[in-house]
Amino acid sequence: MKLETKFNKKDILSAYEYRHASKEFDPNKKISEDDFNFILETGRLSPSSFGFEPWKFIVIQNEKLREKLKIVSSGGQKQIPSSSHFVIILSRTKKHLNYDSDYIQSIMKNVQQLPQEVIEIMVKFYKDFIKHDIKLVEGDRLFFEWGARQTYIALGNMMTSAAMIGIDSCPMEGFNKKQAEKILKDEGIMPASGFGISSMVTFGYRIENPLPKKRQALDEIVEWVN
Ligand SMILES: Cc1cc2nc3c(=O)[nH]c(=O)nc-3n(C[C@H](O)[C@H](O)[C@H](O)COP(=O)(O)O)c2cc1C
Repeated sequence: MKLETKFNKKDILSAYEYRHASKEFDPNKKISEDDFNFILETGRLSPSSFGFEPWKFIVIQNEKLREKLKIVSSGGQKQIPSSSHFVIILSRTKKHLNYDSDYIQSIMKNVQQLPQEVIEIMVKFYKDFIKHDIKLVEGDRLFFEWGARQTYIALGNMMTSAAMIGIDSCPMEGFNKKQAEKILKDEGIMPASGFGISSMVTFGYRIENPLPKKRQALDEIVEWVN
């Protein structure tokens, strides 16, 4: 596959400047289906360790459910009800991410379409990796956190791609994980085990312009070793 266009650096940077964490959206402006699918597609195409795609994106458009989730999400009081699209990003946990899980088998077989003998080599390699290199065996929570770290790549890509087409967003960690998960489980949206909420993100159109961006200078955050 060939890259069709070489994107202009100035345009790309202007999207990064344009993106900000919108605290409130215009409730009358809805993102088109085509635009929202584009945003989701950039999440889907995100990289993940071993290509195991540890994420799930739950789009919550039901107002009653949004209201319930708002109550347990201090960081999304205006964002959740006013957004055009509200996404809860789940990460898979040990049940799915352990080397001997059906999920890992199915990704390698059905998505990556690897032959059985390669799958066996990969499983052995992956088992060693999680046991000895990143030592995920020590706890359930570590598997979740490992998956969650990867979901943030998809989160970032979706927010940037949204900005590139003039759509605003707000990433959110300001929620009570246990309570939010209980709501999703009680509603039958999230299975009783195997997943945890890693983050939330709202999309829509800004209601007011943000303050100018504040960031440290590049030389304060980059160190060169030559
Ligand atoms: C992981 C993460 C969690 C965040 N959680 C919240 C949140 O719960 N509520 C909120 O309004 N903003 C949240 N933010 C937005 C940040 O406050 C914001 O990105 C930061 O202040 C920089 O501002 P800017 O994104 O507008 O440039 C979060 C950002 C990140 C990356």
